[in-house]
Amino acid sequence: MKLSLSILDFDFSDLERELKPLYEQIDYLHMDVMDGVFVPNISFGLPIIKSLRKGTSLEFDTHLMITNPEPYIEDFVKAGSDLITIHYESKCNVLETLKKIKSFNVKAGLSIKPKTKVEEILELLPYVDLVLVMSVEPGFGGQKFMPSALEKMAQLKELQAKYHFEISVDGGINLTTVSNVKGLADIIIAGSAVAKANNRIETIKALKA
Ligand code: DX5
Ligand code: ZN
Repeated sequence: MKLSLSILDFDFSDLERELKPLYEQIDYLHMDVMDGVFVPNISFGLPIIKSLRKGTSLEFDTHLMITNPEPYIEDFVKAGSDLITIHYESKCNVLETLKKIKSFNVKAGLSIKPKTKVEEILELLPYVDLVLVMSVEPGFGGQKFMPSALEKMAQLKELQAKYHFEISVDGGINLTTVSNVKGLADIIIAGSAVAKANNRIETIKALKA
């Protein structure tokens, strides 16, 4: 399994110094962009992504938890995103927005919140490189893993034979819950489990193992 590290729970006053020692261990950096409207929290946006971009060639995985992502896609590409994930539940033309992401030669991801069913996104699967299954209600790091995500991941796993997308899971992944998603997730997203660990590098290694 590949690991995408969510930066949300790290110290933003010293972000690059906190993250750099971990770059070698991870496959993606996960950028949780929140607008206070789509989710009840405001996180960060373009400037942080642009700043981190200068210090690494690591793939940046940008998770847009914003109401209307479409007008901002180009900005997030220019800031340095390699993969941009939008929410099925956002208020935009999802298919057009996915196509727009791909028009910039960037990978397109589609995320579903805990209450959204896989059946609802079937028609969009031919257009996505990644399906991100939320295993918490989006908005905050450090929440508890919702096992209802597992059934959806199993459904998606079967659909992988027909399409070309990867499956990722986001929310509440730690050394205990990770065993549930083995064989189902291609990419795990982890934030607080790493940020709060005594030994971050060992924790990343254990999560990926
Ligand atoms: C939640 C975010 C997640 C979150 C992960 O809205 O999309 O990426 O920060 O954090 P943990 O691993 O702490 O659940
Ligand atoms: Zn996320």
